[in-house]
Amino acid sequence: MEELIEQARAVVQHSYAPFSEFRVGAAVRDEQGRIHTGVNVENSSYGLTQCAERSAICTAIGAGARNITAVVVYTPTDTPHLPCGACRQVIREFGADAKILSVCDTDACEEHTISELLPKSFVLDSD
Ligand code: THU
Repeated sequence: MEELIEQARAVVQHSYAPFSEFRVGAAVRDEQGRIHTGVNVENSSYGLTQCAERSAICTAIGAGARNITAVVVYTPTDTPHLPCGACRQVIREFGADAKILSVCDTDACEEHTISELLPKSFVLDSD
């Protein structure tokens, strides 16, 4: 997880958050071991804001990934922040067994699975 943490911390410099001033960096690992990063991207039409986790996952999927094995969320805060509900559903789609680690600027951190964060989630029946 160390490399993912480092990359999530590094990418936060590119966060675009002029409205909330709440910057988020994310890094995900795919089934090939590749790392993809993302930041939150806000918009003057506020509802169009894209979270860092979903940015990272969309980048991974666009690079051919289909299974996310780990997600790191970094915020430059004193306490860790967990993925929002929308991001949890997207993590569920591509990373049902992923480790989800939230880190910040103190030693505080939280690690969860998606079944802890989004129990009884929506999935399409395949039959
Ligand atoms: N944000 C994320 O990037 N990830 C989350 O899981 C929750 C919130 C961003 C969206 C917005 O730019 C800022 O944090 C404040 O909500």
